[in-house]
Amino acid sequence: MNKTVNEGRALVAGMGPVLSEVRGVEKVLCPPFMALLPIAAMLAGTDIGIGAQDMHWAEKGAFTGEVAPGMVAEFCKYVILGHSERRTYFGETDETVNKKTVAARNAHLVPIVCVGETLAEYESGKTAEVVSRQVRECLKGLDPEFVSTIVVAYEPVWAIGTGRASTGENANKVVCDFIRKPLAEMYGEGSAQAVRVLYGGSVTGANAAEFFGQTDIDGALVGGASLKVDDFLSIVKAAVK
Ligand code: PGA
Repeated sequence: MNKTVNEGRALVAGMGPVLSEVRGVEKVLCPPFMALLPIAAMLAGTDIGIGAQDMHWAEKGAFTGEVAPGMVAEFCKYVILGHSERRTYFGETDETVNKKTVAARNAHLVPIVCVGETLAEYESGKTAEVVSRQVRECLKGLDPEFVSTIVVAYEPVWAIGTGRASTGENANKVVCDFIRKPLAEMYGEGSAQAVRVLYGGSVTGANAAEFFGQTDIDGALVGGASLKVDDFLSIVKAAVK
């Protein structure tokens, strides 16, 4: 919930042209709903993708204030689901994230499904249990072909917006053992390896390369640093292999 539509347009006008010049990296912007249409129009014809930050699971109906998958799919290819702020403040659960993931498949959207442990869970050694449960519950009942196309974001809640990022090594271990491994058990090794897994939580231009250099981390989900053109560009540039 950052930036008005006009501020968002100005941000994209500032970063769009330079962003387009960075080749070999999949780049996606996920503005708030109000800004989706104007920004989708600005990005038309570029290689920059667009996504929503959430959606409802129902196809349509009496859900005042909500946005349906088909509405998102009119303008977007991607949708973020299960962000920790949705879980913390708006009652999102593994069950609703699962319904939304199924709905994303039906609407031909690429879901970016967020998982990650809280600080209390991290400190009490529950990372393995929490993250693998979220993966199993949020991503159940899908087919291996669809799973191969999705994106999972590992976002330790204690690292989001705190300036306290995880380390590349720790995040990579969580991705291997508690994200790809359960996915391999559920959908086979091929699908588990094909899933793009992002790290998110206080990613900056200074630490991005540490994450991108890991064996099992394919990219980043960037919050605060995406609001500043230079910071975001330096992260995108660090992703070029
Ligand atoms: P941050 O946010 O990069 O500001 O930590 C990440 C997120 O909100 O997913």
